Amino acid sequence: MKSVKIKDKEFELFLTQETIETAIDNIAQKISDDLKDKNPLFICVLNGSFMFASELMKRVSIPLEVSFVKMSSYDGTESTGKIKEICGLEEDITGRTVVIVEDIVDTGYTMSRMLEQLTAQKPAEIKVVTLLLKPDALKTKVQLDYVALEIPSDFIVGYGLDCDGYGRNYPNIYKIKS
Ligand code: IMP
Ligand code: MG
Repeated sequence: MKSVKIKDKEFELFLTQETIETAIDNIAQKISDDLKDKNPLFICVLNGSFMFASELMKRVSIPLEVSFVKMSSYDGTESTGKIKEICGLEEDITGRTVVIVEDIVDTGYTMSRMLEQLTAQKPAEIKVVTLLLKPDALKTKVQLDYVALEIPSDFIVGYGLDCDGYGRNYPNIYKIKS
Protein backbone atom coordinates (compact mmCIF):
# COMPACT_ATOMS: atom_id res chain seq x y z
CA MET A 1 0.00 0.00 0.00
CA LYS A 2 1.27 3.48 -0.94
CA SER A 3 -0.82 5.26 1.65
CA VAL A 4 -3.07 4.47 4.61
CA LYS A 5 -5.76 6.29 6.53
CA ILE A 6 -6.30 6.02 10.29
CA LYS A 7 -9.42 7.80 11.48
CA ASP A 8 -9.10 11.23 9.85
CA LYS A 9 -5.32 11.12 9.33
CA GLU A 10 -3.55 10.29 6.07
CA PHE A 11 -0.16 8.61 5.99
CA GLU A 12 2.22 7.96 3.09
CA LEU A 13 4.72 5.14 2.60
CA PHE A 14 8.04 6.00 4.26
CA LEU A 15 10.06 2.82 4.97
CA THR A 16 9.38 -0.53 3.34
CA GLN A 17 9.55 -3.81 5.23
CA GLU A 18 12.65 -4.65 3.16
CA THR A 19 14.47 -1.47 4.22
CA ILE A 20 13.51 -2.03 7.84
CA GLU A 21 14.57 -5.66 7.88
CA THR A 22 17.91 -4.97 6.18
CA ALA A 23 18.61 -2.49 8.99
CA ILE A 24 17.57 -5.14 11.54
CA ASP A 25 19.95 -7.67 9.90
CA ASN A 26 22.82 -5.23 10.44
CA ILE A 27 22.26 -4.54 14.14
CA ALA A 28 21.45 -8.20 14.85
CA GLN A 29 24.86 -9.14 13.50
CA LYS A 30 26.59 -6.53 15.69
CA ILE A 31 24.63 -7.58 18.76
CA SER A 32 25.46 -11.26 18.15
CA ASP A 33 29.17 -10.41 17.90
CA ASP A 34 29.23 -8.09 20.91
CA LEU A 35 27.19 -10.17 23.34
CA LYS A 36 28.11 -13.74 22.43
CA ASP A 37 29.54 -14.74 25.79
CA LYS A 38 27.25 -12.63 27.95
CA ASN A 39 24.11 -14.73 28.36
CA PRO A 40 21.98 -11.59 27.84
CA LEU A 41 18.38 -11.05 28.91
CA PHE A 42 16.49 -9.10 26.24
CA ILE A 43 13.72 -6.97 27.72
CA CYS A 44 11.28 -5.93 24.99
CA VAL A 45 9.00 -2.98 25.67
CA LEU A 46 5.37 -3.62 24.72
CA ASN A 47 3.29 -2.78 22.83
CA GLY A 48 5.34 -0.93 20.23
CA SER A 49 8.33 -3.25 20.01
CA PHE A 50 6.49 -6.51 19.33
CA MET A 51 7.17 -6.71 15.59
CA PHE A 52 10.74 -5.43 15.82
CA ALA A 53 11.48 -7.72 18.76
CA SER A 54 10.24 -10.73 16.82
CA GLU A 55 12.38 -9.99 13.74
CA LEU A 56 15.41 -9.03 15.83
CA MET A 57 15.32 -12.12 18.04
CA LYS A 58 15.13 -14.43 15.00
CA ARG A 59 18.40 -12.92 13.78
CA VAL A 60 20.44 -12.83 17.00
CA SER A 61 22.19 -16.18 16.99
CA ILE A 62 23.58 -16.50 20.52
CA PRO A 63 22.24 -18.04 23.76
CA LEU A 64 19.83 -15.52 25.28
CA GLU A 65 16.57 -15.06 27.16
CA VAL A 66 13.68 -12.86 26.08
CA SER A 67 11.17 -11.14 28.32
CA PHE A 68 8.50 -8.47 27.87
CA VAL A 69 7.52 -5.44 29.95
CA LYS A 70 5.18 -2.51 29.65
CA MET A 71 5.78 1.07 30.67
CA SER A 72 2.63 2.07 32.49
CA SER A 73 1.86 5.77 32.94
CA TYR A 74 0.23 7.28 35.96
CA ASP A 75 -0.24 10.86 37.08
CA GLY A 76 2.48 12.09 39.41
CA THR A 77 2.39 15.38 41.23
CA GLU A 78 1.83 18.55 39.23
CA SER A 79 5.56 19.16 39.05
CA THR A 80 6.49 15.67 37.89
CA GLY A 81 3.58 15.23 35.46
CA LYS A 82 3.06 11.77 34.03
CA ILE A 83 5.33 9.13 35.60
CA LYS A 84 6.18 5.95 33.75
CA GLU A 85 7.00 2.73 35.61
CA ILE A 86 8.21 -0.59 34.26
CA CYS A 87 5.64 -3.27 34.88
CA GLY A 88 5.74 -7.03 34.42
CA LEU A 89 9.46 -7.71 34.88
CA GLU A 90 9.68 -11.09 36.62
CA GLU A 91 13.36 -11.93 36.09
CA ASP A 92 16.07 -11.12 38.58
CA ILE A 93 18.47 -8.96 36.57
CA THR A 94 21.13 -8.59 39.28
CA GLY A 95 24.57 -9.11 37.74
CA ARG A 96 23.20 -9.80 34.25
CA THR A 97 23.69 -8.24 30.84
CA VAL A 98 20.35 -6.69 30.03
CA VAL A 99 19.32 -5.49 26.56
CA ILE A 100 16.38 -3.09 26.29
CA VAL A 101 14.47 -3.44 23.02
CA GLU A 102 12.38 -0.38 22.05
CA ASP A 103 10.46 0.61 18.94
CA ILE A 104 11.40 4.28 18.91
CA VAL A 105 13.25 6.91 20.90
CA ASP A 106 11.62 10.29 20.42
CA THR A 107 12.21 12.78 23.27
CA GLY A 108 14.20 10.09 25.09
CA TYR A 109 12.29 10.50 28.36
CA THR A 110 10.82 6.99 28.31
CA MET A 111 14.22 5.38 27.75
CA SER A 112 15.87 7.53 30.43
CA ARG A 113 13.23 6.47 32.91
CA MET A 114 13.68 2.79 32.00
CA LEU A 115 17.44 3.03 32.38
CA GLU A 116 17.04 4.66 35.79
CA GLN A 117 14.71 1.95 37.02
CA LEU A 118 16.71 -0.97 35.65
CA THR A 119 20.01 0.45 36.91
CA ALA A 120 18.55 0.45 40.41
CA GLN A 121 18.26 -3.35 40.15
CA LYS A 122 22.05 -3.70 39.73
CA PRO A 123 22.51 -5.45 36.40
CA ALA A 124 26.11 -6.08 35.25
CA GLU A 125 25.46 -3.81 32.25
CA ILE A 126 22.62 -2.46 30.14
CA LYS A 127 22.56 -2.16 26.35
CA VAL A 128 19.91 -0.18 24.53
CA VAL A 129 18.52 -1.25 21.15
CA THR A 130 15.97 0.78 19.26
CA LEU A 131 14.50 0.26 15.82
CA LEU A 132 14.07 3.99 15.26
CA LEU A 133 15.56 7.22 16.55
CA LYS A 134 14.36 10.76 15.89
CA PRO A 135 17.65 12.58 16.61
CA ASP A 136 16.13 16.07 16.22
CA ALA A 137 13.39 15.32 18.75
CA LEU A 138 15.71 14.26 21.61
CA LYS A 139 15.20 16.36 24.72
CA THR A 140 17.52 14.51 27.05
CA LYS A 141 20.87 12.82 26.75
CA VAL A 142 20.18 9.11 26.62
CA GLN A 143 22.31 6.00 26.22
CA LEU A 144 21.77 4.35 22.81
CA ASP A 145 23.92 1.38 21.80
CA TYR A 146 22.24 0.06 18.66
CA VAL A 147 19.99 2.18 16.43
CA ALA A 148 18.63 0.46 13.32
CA LEU A 149 17.35 3.60 11.55
CA GLU A 150 17.49 7.36 12.17
CA ILE A 151 14.46 9.26 10.91
CA PRO A 152 13.10 12.85 10.84
CA SER A 153 10.73 13.98 13.58
CA ASP A 154 7.49 13.33 11.63
CA PHE A 155 4.81 11.17 13.24
CA ILE A 156 4.84 7.61 11.87
CA VAL A 157 2.81 4.39 12.12
CA GLY A 158 3.31 0.75 11.27
CA TYR A 159 5.71 -2.05 12.18
CA GLY A 160 4.43 -1.98 15.75
CA LEU A 161 3.94 1.78 16.04
CA ASP A 162 0.43 3.09 16.45
CA CYS A 163 -1.82 6.06 16.02
CA ASP A 164 -4.53 5.88 18.72
CA GLY A 165 -4.02 2.13 18.91
CA TYR A 166 -4.32 1.48 15.15
CA GLY A 167 -1.72 0.78 12.48
CA ARG A 168 0.59 -1.48 14.46
CA ASN A 169 0.01 -4.37 12.07
CA TYR A 170 1.31 -2.68 8.90
CA PRO A 171 4.50 -4.37 7.66
CA ASN A 172 5.78 -1.02 6.28
CA ILE A 173 6.19 2.31 8.09
CA TYR A 174 4.09 5.28 7.00
CA LYS A 175 4.58 8.95 7.85
CA ILE A 176 1.88 11.52 8.37
CA LYS A 177 1.04 13.66 5.34
CA SER A 178 1.60 17.33 6.02
P1 IMP B 1 9.76 9.34 24.18
O1 IMP B 1 9.60 9.16 25.65
O2 IMP B 1 9.35 10.73 23.74
O3 IMP B 1 11.13 8.99 23.64
O4 IMP B 1 8.69 8.48 23.47
C1 IMP B 1 8.79 7.18 23.25
C2 IMP B 1 7.41 6.58 22.94
O5 IMP B 1 6.55 7.49 22.24
C3 IMP B 1 7.63 5.44 22.01
O6 IMP B 1 7.90 4.24 22.72
C4 IMP B 1 6.33 5.39 21.24
O7 IMP B 1 5.39 4.63 21.95
C5 IMP B 1 5.87 6.82 21.19
N1 IMP B 1 6.18 7.48 19.90
C6 IMP B 1 7.14 8.41 19.65
N2 IMP B 1 7.14 8.80 18.38
C7 IMP B 1 6.14 8.11 17.77
C8 IMP B 1 5.63 8.07 16.40
O8 IMP B 1 6.09 8.77 15.48
N3 IMP B 1 4.59 7.22 16.18
C9 IMP B 1 4.05 6.43 17.15
N4 IMP B 1 4.50 6.42 18.43
C10 IMP B 1 5.53 7.26 18.73
MG1 MG C 1 7.31 2.26 22.90
